[in-house]
Amino acid sequence: MSKPAITVAITGASGALYGLKILDLLRERGDVEVHLVVSSSGWLTLSTESPLSREAVHAKADVVHTPKAVGACIASGSHESLGMLVAPCSMHTLAAIACGLSSNLITRAADVTLKERRRLVLLPRETPLNLAHLRNMQSVTEMGGIVMPPVPALYHQPKTIDELITDTARHAIELVGLKQAGRKVWRG
Ligand SMILES: Cc1cc2nc3c(=O)[nH]c(=O)nc-3n(C[C@H](O)[C@H](O)[C@H](O)COP(=O)(O)O)c2cc1C
Repeated sequence: MSKPAITVAITGASGALYGLKILDLLRERGDVEVHLVVSSSGWLTLSTESPLSREAVHAKADVVHTPKAVGACIASGSHESLGMLVAPCSMHTLAAIACGLSSNLITRAADVTLKERRRLVLLPRETPLNLAHLRNMQSVTEMGGIVMPPVPALYHQPKTIDELITDTARHAIELVGLKQAGRKVWRG
């Protein structure tokens, strides 16, 4: 039987490491087919924040799509999928999703995820936030999406940036409905 599919998009906000960590954790699980789309600005931030080549990033996914490929399988609701994570999510992509603009494969796949009532998890990164950002987050939430700004929990006293990112990435994956072993849980 084929594995359930999941889509991961990396857009041009700071925080490419969140997307990369999500890809690594999904690969580690081995029980999902990962479809990856990186926007052109996503490649720009990736090259600023990570030494990985495009090939190395592509190797983390099972299927790679370009943002222009609006006819790819993930652009259709008939493509069965657990959901989609956009990590990090730029204010540009957030605005496009909030307005239902499907001008590239990332925003189209997000639109389809919402219309099929599947899990859409956005990790928007900007600070401070203007009213447009806040309104767009509200719209996406009203449409059923989950807005999860990557704000770290410090009560576990993380020692490294990798620890912070891993904890957030595990949380984001759980929001798509995939239980993550090793997620730090507050025991009271
Ligand atoms: C180094 C760098 C860092 C950026 N950081 C952010 C950011 O944190 N949040 C954001 O919304 N946009 C950020 N931007 C701007 C976006 O990349 C830009 O708005 C772009 O159009 C987003 O396109 P996309 O949504 O198709 O990826 C950054 C751009 C660069 C070059």
